[in-house]
Parts: sequence; structure tokens; C-alpha cells
Amino acid sequence: MSLVEEINKRRTFAIVSHPDAGKTTLTEKLLLFGGAIQVAGAVKSNKIKRHATSDFMEIERQRGISVATSVMAFEYDDKKINILDTPGHQDFAEDTYRTLTAVDSAIVVIDVAKGVEPQTEKLVEVCRMRNTPMIVFINKLDREGRDGFELLDEIEDKLQLHVCPLSWPIGMGQRFKGVYNLYEQQLNLFQPHGKQEEEEIIAIRDTSSEQLDKHVGKAAADELRHDLEILHTVYPDFDRQKYLAGELSPVFFGSAINNFGVKELLDCFVNIAPPPKSRSTEERTVNPEEDQFSGFVFKIHANMDPKHRDRIAFLRICSGKFERNTNYLHVRQDRKMKFSNPTAFMAAKKSIIDEAFPGDIIGLYDSGNFKIGDSLTAGENLHFKGIPSFSPEQFRYINNANPLKSKQLDKGLLQLTEEGVAQLFTKEDNNRKIIGTVGALQFEVIQYRLEHEYGASCSYEPLSLHKACWITSDKKGALDKMLKERKKDIARDKDGNLVFLAESAWALKMAQENYPQIKFHFKSEF
Ligand code: G4P
Repeated sequence: MSLVEEINKRRTFAIVSHPDAGKTTLTEKLLLFGGAIQVAGAVKSNKIKRHATSDFMEIERQRGISVATSVMAFEYDDKKINILDTPGHQDFAEDTYRTLTAVDSAIVVIDVAKGVEPQTEKLVEVCRMRNTPMIVFINKLDREGRDGFELLDEIEDKLQLHVCPLSWPIGMGQRFKGVYNLYEQQLNLFQPHGKQEEEEIIAIRDTSSEQLDKHVGKAAADELRHDLEILHTVYPDFDRQKYLAGELSPVFFGSAINNFGVKELLDCFVNIAPPPKSRSTEERTVNPEEDQFSGFVFKIHANMDPKHRDRIAFLRICSGKFERNTNYLHVRQDRKMKFSNPTAFMAAKKSIIDEAFPGDIIGLYDSGNFKIGDSLTAGENLHFKGIPSFSPEQFRYINNANPLKSKQLDKGLLQLTEEGVAQLFTKEDNNRKIIGTVGALQFEVIQYRLEHEYGASCSYEPLSLHKACWITSDKKGALDKMLKERKKDIARDKDGNLVFLAESAWALKMAQENYPQIKFHFKSEF
């Protein structure tokens, strides 16, 4: 198969949702369709057992929270589908944000009863930043929930997505009869009480036909006709170009647990979702069809084997063909590296691969050479853009609790921050170290891992800060002036960049007003 054919075959995406909306269930059903797992419940039970195979931290075992971002690949309809799993717990949101930099599209799952929830909003915002095409799946139609039109309004309003329903529910909860698929112009009948083996599908091009009444009853058929009329006047027709540009999101309704509406979603997805796209680097745009291999690290997993300090760097391939045992340039370190056991992920299993193509995610065993955002290329100096660090929201001073182990502590902190677990800042006035994270759980993860992996122990001291934001200026002297006047509110990140520590939203606003020549950034990539 030629490189172009390999690329066109690939669909790399993530499923995002607020916890409990049904992401795991939907993932499982997609894997069943793809033949990647044989029995329902395999992924579910993984959620509990998963620690053994893909979640590496003891801390999670205790808490039952999935920290892992793993990759599941399968073939469907001649396409190679790569699903990037994202941690549901919001304390690991930054992991999820970065995973979203490695996908070409996303499916957003919304619970019909709960509608748009806070975590959905944040995740969709990250997708929107990169104009990632999104399909919305409204789940749990077997339960009572909110009115379809109300939900569409909420999605447009809170998620700022233009929507285009491609299926429409007929009743819900006890009265749920099925969906009318506007994309295929067919009726999919729902069998309650787990009787759903194969969906009963009836082609009905003309919804005014009596056939519709026959299958769902007159009242439900009339309601559907009425709804469809409104849909046609209010919502635009599907336009693939708009979807690909991230300007229009198709919406499907279904029930993941009942495997209802999932096949329609998948069939439409493989049809419309984008193959790997070109990517921006600081130097130039990289097209997937280029002969020369390139890729970037978006995620690092530590502790694959607690006995060794092994890590796995997850690399998204952006162009050319990756080959095993071939020398590639680690751009930041300016040295050649080759990999004898690169790994691909097929559902829960890992296997060594000989080659991989744009859109694929591979795992590279790493003994501490990679950090998030690193580029690997066939030789060219490329720096991929769009792999940001987000301004943390929780802060604590970190102290060394065992002076004999200060080297271990420094090393541990450096590696953990390179993995993106947290951010480390050093204050300008007194050199004290501050850990900044997106979620509170990270502090415990750090403490635990420092102890178990590095033999170092630390203690925390509370620190009340609103935000840390990176500061830059085009005006000579402006930063020096601020540094001099506000030394106690300024720190450096691990790369030496200046960061303003704002005690409150008000303090941040005042600083922005008082230092108009300074730019305040809420992402580290600017
Ligand atoms: P998440 O990954 O987004 O966190 O959600 P997950 O798939 O784990 O689903 C959360 C809960 O919602 C699960 O129930 C799951 O069975 C249920 N669920 C998923 N899809 C549907 C659906 O279409 N209809 C209904 N009624 N429920 C659905 P749970 O009680 O938390 O777990 P379990 O005991 O079923 O495993």
C-alpha cells in the first residue's frame, strides 16, 4: 500500500465527555464493531482491572480513577481507527488537553438528562482552539431526559458549536421508539430491555408515508413529522467542508449501553471524519504525505514497570513512514536515536511494530530523554506547534522533607514536570519552589511518585494563588522594570521563562493595567 493510501485509511480521534456520560461504554461498543474485543464488558471490566495493564500508578488503584491515556486501534470498513482514550477525572484534565493535540477529530458524548456539563465545556473549548472537527453523540435515550431542541440550544449556546442533527429521537425513556436517521433517511427501531441484537432498520425516505405510523404509532409519527419540519427550517443541511473546518457539528442520538445508534455513528464517522491533516511547526507546515518521517511526543507515561524507572513516550506520527531500528533525530537534544521495540496498541494489547504511518500513535520506551512537545524527525530541525502547557490553577510550596535526598528530589521533580504531571516554578525573591497543577489530586500523585520512584520525600505548604501566567514584552526594559518592582510575585518556570503569580483575579487585572507593555499569557505556547 502506498504512503498516501495508508494515510487516507487512518482516522485518529478522541471521545470526550464529562465523567459518566458514557464515554467508556461508547468506546467499548465501537471496539466490538471493530472486532477489537469479543465480549461486551471487556472495557468496562478493564476500568477496574485496567491498572494492571495500562494504569500504572498505585494511587489510582486506591482511588479507582483512570489516569491513563491509552490508545486503542482497530479496523472497520477498510479504515484504521485509532481511538485515544482520555482520563475522565478532571484533575487530569491537562493530560486530556494534550491528548487532544494528537487527534484529527473528536466525538463529544453528552448525557441526555444532564446536558452540557462543565468538563464537556472545557474539553470542547480545547478542541475549538484547534478547529478540531467534532461529532456530538447524545446518549442514554433509554432514560428520561431533556427535550432534543432544548439540548441543541444548550450545545450551541454553551459549547459554541453550530449543530446539524443527523438523527432525531422518537420519544425517550419508557416511550423511546428509536431514531430517525436523517443522514441515511431510515428509521431505526429500538428494542427495550436489552433485546437489541441487531437494530431493526426500515428505509423511509418519505416521512409522510403511512409506513412510519405503522412502526411507531400515529402520535409518535406525527410528533416526529412536526419535529423534522422544525429541524429543516432551523438547522443547516450537513456540509462536510464546514464540518472539516470545525464550523459545523453533526449530532446523533442513541443509547450506548443498548448498542443503539452506535453503528450509525460509526458508519457516518468513517465516512466524514478527516484523515491525518498537515501540522504546523515553527519552521514550516508539514504534510503527512511527505516522504520524510516526523512526529511529536504528546504524552509520557511513567512507571510501566515499577522495578525500573521506564517510561513510555507516546508519539503521534505526522509525516512519512516510521521504521523500527532506524536512526531518527531527537531535535531538542540534537542527537540520533533508534528504537528497537516501538509499540502499537490494539485495544488492551501492546505489540512491537516494524512500521507506522501518519495518524498512528506509537509508544517509545524511554529512559528519560523525552519531554512533552519533543519532535523526532528523519533529520530536519522541526518544532511542532500547538502542544501547550496550561496555566495552572492550584499551587503549593514544595519542601524537601529529607535533606539527604535533595538530589533525588530535584531529579524526580524535573522528570515529573517533563512528563507534564505538574509545573514547577522557582520564585525570584527567595528561590522557593512552587508546584502548580490543574487539579488537586496531582499533589498526591507527585508525593507518592517521588517517594516510590525516586526515594525522595516532600511536604507541601499551602499557597493561595489565583493563577500563574507567563509574561513577555516587546518593549525593552519593561520586563526588567516589573521584575524589579514586583519581585515577590514573579517566578521562573523550569525553562527559565518569567511567570507572574497573581494572588487574585483582581491582582491580575491590576497588574495588567499597571504594566500595559507586558503581555500576560495563559498558555505557555505563545
Ligand atoms: P464515562 O466513561 O463517560 O465515565 O461513562 P461510562 O461509560 O462508564 O458510563 C457511566 C454510566 O452510565 C455507567 O453506569 C453506564 O452503564 C451508564 N450508561 C452508559 N450508556 C448508557 C445508556 O445508553 N443508557 C443508560 N441507561 N446508561 C448508560 P454505572 O452504573 O456507573 O456503571 P455500570 O454499573 O453499569 O458499569
